[in-house]
Amino acid sequence: MTFDELNLNKPLLNAIEDLGFINPTPVQEKTFSVIMSGKDVVSVAQTGTGKTFAYLLPVLRQLKYSEQRHPRILILVPTRELVLQVTNELDKLTKYMNVRYTGIYGGTNINTQKKVVYAGLDILVATPGRLYDLTMTGLLRLKNIQKVIIDEVDEMLNLGFRPQLISILEILPKKRQNLMFSATLTEDVENFINDFFISPVKIEIAPHGTPIDKIIQTAYHIPNYNTKINLLNLLLRDSNLEKVLIFVSGKKNADRLYEKLLPEFKEEAAVLHSNKSQNYRIRTLKSFHDSKTRILIATDIVARGLDISDVSHVINFSLPEIPGDYIHRTGRTGRADKPGKAISFIAEKEEDLQVQIEHLMKKNIRIEPLPEDLKISTVLTEEEKDVLYDKNYLKTKIPQSGGAFHEKKEKNIKVNSGSPSKKRKRNKKNVKRSGKR
Ligand code: CDP
Ligand code: MG
Repeated sequence: MTFDELNLNKPLLNAIEDLGFINPTPVQEKTFSVIMSGKDVVSVAQTGTGKTFAYLLPVLRQLKYSEQRHPRILILVPTRELVLQVTNELDKLTKYMNVRYTGIYGGTNINTQKKVVYAGLDILVATPGRLYDLTMTGLLRLKNIQKVIIDEVDEMLNLGFRPQLISILEILPKKRQNLMFSATLTEDVENFINDFFISPVKIEIAPHGTPIDKIIQTAYHIPNYNTKINLLNLLLRDSNLEKVLIFVSGKKNADRLYEKLLPEFKEEAAVLHSNKSQNYRIRTLKSFHDSKTRILIATDIVARGLDISDVSHVINFSLPEIPGDYIHRTGRTGRADKPGKAISFIAEKEEDLQVQIEHLMKKNIRIEPLPEDLKISTVLTEEEKDVLYDKNYLKTKIPQSGGAFHEKKEKNIKVNSGSPSKKRKRNKKNVKRSGKR
């Protein structure tokens, strides 16, 4: 599924296009229409699987322009870092919309926040404590809240926010939509839902989007394509690689790689992509399923959602362009409590993708030293020669910035790591009406 197929509007689609995202994550896909239907929703999916957009997209989709001062959407999160992260995501999604929002949290000047609230808001992102204090001043009225989103509920309850949450829910209008997002469905969470939600729809994403923890993920930084081929040959000679799924981007690359492996692994390997006939695909998959084929080279499209038992290794011959696809790929191993290994081959030009993937997973991939017996090739492919040319060209023409991503990564860390100056800056632009109307 692509974002185009979700019932989004142009401003949201454009914002998503600017972000370069094509496919909604499973939790986004599954939650969207249920939230749009107005029902109460409890959505459980592992961290890093896109829960923020899973609620922001339908909420923004349904929000109508209004001049009224009191907020209509309330988003509760456990920490200040998350307040900033969510407002940061709102910055991105409302680029072409006219929406007023702000984040409020403790430990900062309450008077500044009062002013912002007084100026009028559509969406309020807050930690429970400060929100409660502000409502007590009488300045912040929650009587117009139509939807409340409690994000990271498990963590909120772990941190002991239960009493504050309850006091807030009690002052909200009775007629409202309750949305709750959590990484785990603990007993605490269950109890909480039972107390406050009205026959909620439960959406649990598992285990598809959750391969991250039990799969051993390693990677090699490899100078070029031909050295990748050498390394792949070297690894495949190890009989511990019992059932190997190798991912490449694009059909041509899949066929090319198959040819390269042919002399040695002819009997054991097959290639699968969308240009092959349906019959061939079914046969090839079955053979891999039954462990008659040890090595399967595949593209993302054909391997999406495949449930093949006992894949011992996933090898990313190159990293996927879409970070979420890395999770889909690695998720083909380590299924149903089996161990799994994912090995990625990362060329220099792919290191940016590595950072994005690590950010998405909130976990680093361990980089292994290259094996001593690996033959390093100095022969470049035609594409690599072109890239080299482009890169040198860019270096002389345009100063490299590239800081944007790292800044975001820092913000995503839940400990208080932001520099004071950054915080201050953010407070200043506390509220904004983005885009033009
Ligand atoms: O809340 P949760 O831990 O599930 O994840 P998140 O904080 O929403 O982070 C998801 C990350 O994936 C963010 O960096 C998003 O920009 C990115 N992403 C996404 O949310 N949805 C996509 N379809 C693609 C990427
Ligand atoms: Mg989250």
